[in-house]
Amino acid sequence: MINRIKEIKNQLGEDLLILAHHYQRDEIVQLADAVGDSLKLAQIAEENKKAKYIVFCGVHFMAETADILSEDYQRVFLPAPTSGCPMADMADRESAEKAWDIITGELGDSICPITYINSKAEVKAFCGVHEGTAVTSGNAEKVVKWGLGVKDKILFLPDQNLGKNTAVSLGVDEKYMALYDQNTEKLIYSCEPSQVKMILWNGYCHVHHKITPQKVEEARKANPHAKIIVHPECPHEVVKMCDGAGSTTYLIKAVENSDAGSKWIVGTEFNLVRRLRERFTDRDIKILDTGSICTNMNKTSLENLCETLEEILKGDYRKQITVDEKTAREAVMSLNTMLSLS
Ligand code: 13P
Ligand code: SF4
Repeated sequence: MINRIKEIKNQLGEDLLILAHHYQRDEIVQLADAVGDSLKLAQIAEENKKAKYIVFCGVHFMAETADILSEDYQRVFLPAPTSGCPMADMADRESAEKAWDIITGELGDSICPITYINSKAEVKAFCGVHEGTAVTSGNAEKVVKWGLGVKDKILFLPDQNLGKNTAVSLGVDEKYMALYDQNTEKLIYSCEPSQVKMILWNGYCHVHHKITPQKVEEARKANPHAKIIVHPECPHEVVKMCDGAGSTTYLIKAVENSDAGSKWIVGTEFNLVRRLRERFTDRDIKILDTGSICTNMNKTSLENLCETLEEILKGDYRKQITVDEKTAREAVMSLNTMLSLS
């Protein structure tokens, strides 16, 4: 299958672009034309004007983003069409519009909606029409700082953890953050409503949210000389106990730039950490929580990648991901604002 994939890659040349997220399995990463975090992959999808076929080895929101940012003559494919992101599914346009009415009704309309790129295209469209933007873990501080400059408050969705971690790192006290619960359609305050700076949606990534402070404590005890670094999708209680937090690229760079003999404990998806261990055998690298596996990212396989490429050759586009024109037109406004700030 590897040989066949390489053969098709040669045959299609620049007409084909295979993109892979850092959480993809080794065999997929090795065949990709580019590997990166969500920000880098979105930037490549926007910049590449040559590829007629962009095969996205990642999850659904990433392929949607690539479709929105690419040209009309470019088609985007997802080899495992059921690879979604449960966190992205925790907000949709209807619930976001409803929340907007409730929140602006209680707190006034000087609010900038910011959606994590791990969201549905329709939520990016919601942010686009309400003069907001998108954000990734790679540009979160810059983007949230911008949001606090243009409006009094931010509505950050769907990841409460990235929202809180970013706001705290910009100096916003936790007590000025309200939580919006889309199930009860209520805001939970820990200060006077007029003092709120950040409204957090109560979504989360189950892979990172279940990393506990107890795990960090145990890891510290067992490895007192190791640096512990995590993805900012982890709860704030975890992040504040660690030595650093950042995007997948940040985590990789932290280890890349370290000295031989250094010790690292990394809190993120298993494939990324295992690759670091294999690349840097002169360093001691451990995963913080052995349960950190994103089953959706792991759905891409040699089989479904090869099948997708064979289908493309036959003009069978069943795995193409498309965003309808209106949603794409509105969503691109939030993505363009984000890219111009990055
Ligand atoms: P990055 O943008 O940091 O690569 O993160 C994407 C993701 O899905 C993390 O769970
Ligand atoms: Fe979504 Fe979490 Fe998987 Fe990232 S790791 S794709 S946020 S479920």
